[in-house]
Amino acid sequence: MSVSDEPFTLEVHLDADAGRDRLARDVRRGLIAPPRWILPKYLYDPVGCALYEQITELDEYYQARTEMQILARAVDGIMARHRPTELVELGSGSSRKTRALLDGLNHVGSSRRYLPFDVSSSALHGAAHALAVDYPDLTIHAIAGDFEHHLAYVPPRHAGGVRMVAFLGGTIGNISPGLRPAFLRDVAGLLAPGDVFLMGVDLDTDPERTRRAYDDAAGVTARFNRNLLVILNNELDADFDPESFVHRAVWRPDKRRVEMRLQASREMRVRLGYLDAEITIANGEEILTEICCKFNEPALREIYAHVGLDLIEWHTDPESRFAVTVARLPAGQSAGGG
Ligand code: AVJ
Repeated sequence: MSVSDEPFTLEVHLDADAGRDRLARDVRRGLIAPPRWILPKYLYDPVGCALYEQITELDEYYQARTEMQILARAVDGIMARHRPTELVELGSGSSRKTRALLDGLNHVGSSRRYLPFDVSSSALHGAAHALAVDYPDLTIHAIAGDFEHHLAYVPPRHAGGVRMVAFLGGTIGNISPGLRPAFLRDVAGLLAPGDVFLMGVDLDTDPERTRRAYDDAAGVTARFNRNLLVILNNELDADFDPESFVHRAVWRPDKRRVEMRLQASREMRVRLGYLDAEITIANGEEILTEICCKFNEPALREIYAHVGLDLIEWHTDPESRFAVTVARLPAGQSAGGG
C-alpha cells in the first residue's frame, strides 16, 4: 500500500493482517512454553511509541539526551567530511533527532532526499507530515517494515549522490547477537563507496546506571513493558492480566546487556484466542520482552570488521555513556563482505 495524497510517500510492507500473522507465528515460537520471550519490535504500537517518547524524557534514561548532545557537537563535522545528499534513517520513530541531520544535507540540485524506515506506520506518517511542512524542498519517501524482512525495499541510492544511513538511539542493542551480522550486512548492502553509516550505541561503561535507565522511578518503562500484553490481548484475542506482571530490568554481566522482563506475580491461565491455545504461567515465571546490548569501542570495531565495515569515527560524551559512530565500506569495495 502506498499513500500519496500527501507531500510525501509512505510505503507500507506490514499491513494489519500480515502483521497479525507474523505476531502469531512469533508468539507460537516464543510464548507457548518456557523459556518465554517476545520480540521487542512488538512493543511499538501507537501507545508503545508514545510511552517510548516519554521514556526519552526521563532523568534515568540518559541515552536519548546524551546522543543528542554528542550529535549537536559532532554533526557539522560529520556532514562536512562526508557531504551526504540523502538520508536513510532506520528506526526513525518520531524523527525528532533527524532535523540536525537534515539541516546538514548537501544540496545538489534539488535532490535532497529523506527515507525514514520504521516498524510503526503511524509514527512514520506523523513524522513525514511534520517534516514535509518544515522542509518543503525535501523529497520524503517513508517505508514501514521491519529490519529483518523489508530492508530490501529501500530504493537504490540516487546516482551521483552520497547516502548516509543512520541508525540512532542505540537500537542496534535490541537485535540479538545471532541476527546482528545479517542485519549489518543488509545495512552494508545499502551503501556504496563514499557512503556512510551513522550509528548510535549505548556503552557498557556503567552497568548499574544503564540498568536503572530501564527501571525508572516513575514507572513509565514498566507501563511500556506491560503494554505489550495489552497488544497481545488486542491483536491475538488473548486475556493477559497486565497488572499481574511485574516489570523487571536485569543486567546480565555475561552478555553485556540489560534484559527487560515481565514476571508473573501469581499462577495464571491465559487464553490466546487467535492461536486457539491456552497456556499456564507459573507464579514467578518470566517473559523476556527486550534485550538491550551494550558496547565499547573494541567490541564495535570487531562487529563492524566482521561484516566488512570500517569504523572511522567515534564520538562520545565526557563520561563515555554513549557513542555516535561513523562506519563505511573499505575503499574499492561495493557491498558488505563475507
Ligand atoms: C528504542 C530500542 C533505543 O533499547 O534503549 C527504552 C527502547 N526499552 N526503554 C532502548 C527502550 C526500554 C530503547 N530503544
